[in-house]
Amino acid sequence: MTFRVHEGVLHAGQVSLADIAAAVGTPTYVYSSEVIAAQYAALQAAFPGAAICYAVKANSNLGVLRFVHGLGAGFDIVSSGELQRVLVAGAEPGTAVFSGVGKSVAEIDLALKLGIGCFNVESEAELHRLATQAELLQGVAPVAVRVNPDVDADTHPYIATGLKENKFGVSAEEALELYALAGRHPYLEVKGIACHIGSQIDSPGPYLEALDRLLEISGELDCAGVRIEHIDVGGGFGIAYGGERALDVAALGTAVTERMAGRPQRLLIEPGRFLTASAGVLLTRIEYLKQSRSAGQRSFVVVDAAMNDLLRPALYGAWHAVERVDAPSAGSVAGTWDVVGPVCETGDFLARDRELTVAAGDLLAVRTAGAYGMALSSNYNSRGRPAEVLVEDGAFRVVRHREHIGDQLSLERPSAEREQ
Ligand code: LLP
Repeated sequence: MTFRVHEGVLHAGQVSLADIAAAVGTPTYVYSSEVIAAQYAALQAAFPGAAICYAVKANSNLGVLRFVHGLGAGFDIVSSGELQRVLVAGAEPGTAVFSGVGKSVAEIDLALKLGIGCFNVESEAELHRLATQAELLQGVAPVAVRVNPDVDADTHPYIATGLKENKFGVSAEEALELYALAGRHPYLEVKGIACHIGSQIDSPGPYLEALDRLLEISGELDCAGVRIEHIDVGGGFGIAYGGERALDVAALGTAVTERMAGRPQRLLIEPGRFLTASAGVLLTRIEYLKQSRSAGQRSFVVVDAAMNDLLRPALYGAWHAVERVDAPSAGSVAGTWDVVGPVCETGDFLARDRELTVAAGDLLAVRTAGAYGMALSSNYNSRGRPAEVLVEDGAFRVVRHREHIGDQLSLERPSAEREQ
């Protein structure tokens, strides 16, 4: 799509990634608004009329949130921080759903006062807390129960969430009890039913199994006189990082639409990765080449980005394509390389066993890094987080400045100094 080679240089739309690196430095995340818009359009076509609530955790940069809001999306948030971000981005709180197993009193209060669209409740204890806080604030809390449908999403164990052994949601049986409780409580209002079975799911089957469970429960609730307004099937739509199969969202959409036909409820989806992953690259520059000198040694391209900038390879063994940004220079060395960062951990790699022709000083792009890239970054090794750039309408702008050491040190100044 929008990332393509033009006159020998990788571009995001009309903008050369080499120009961005020259202006902003490296490492830098670059996001293409065109790709986000195309992915959004694919979901709109697949799920006509559905509420698309972007999962902010995938990429919470304000520039990205503003853009996604402009497309007409609502939001799926999991903390008061994310809630405040979407407000700054211009969203109405009523277009947000609040997920997560550990909502604090302060977070619930803030969401209630602002008028959140719905709380996706994950336990009986949370439902009680919600009722207490709503009564204290003399408001009514809109709720959906997050059901754990015990479906195998066939994905990496760290990102599977819909098995009964996982911490998320409640069983169908418990859900019915919670709805009975919420249905007769004066400070709770039943809005919907929700699930989210995992992330990077590549086939419709698990979604349809989960949806069938939700529809069964909603049918039982209907008989009991509890009305459900929306059915939230969560996010998790898988994309292709390399040769693997991406989820066929059109096929899923058709099957979901068929199952929902004739029902009064609105469909809600919570995509994160699907909207932003392929829209992002991490630009990084090669510091050194470290070539194998004997059998059994590996050859390393040492770059200026590290696991603190992009954790997915270290954490999940995730595969990201790595490409040169421009043509190799005369002194470049062809070989099979591990692309590693400066952090002092063996797990600090961005890619392994890649055929690349490279020289120190070259620019590389780590592809498909727009979701759970910057979002999972840290200051490990006291490294500043990368800058972020958004390409929109043929131009680029910095949407987050590079962190400097002063940013980290300022939080560690003695309290007395900080108050001044
Ligand atoms: N809704 C809920 C309740 C979620 O927990 C998540 C993601 C989503 C929606 C969005 O899922 P998505 O459409 O992005 O797959 N760090 C991992 C992914 C963790 C996903 C956590 N929950 C990774 O880098 O692969």
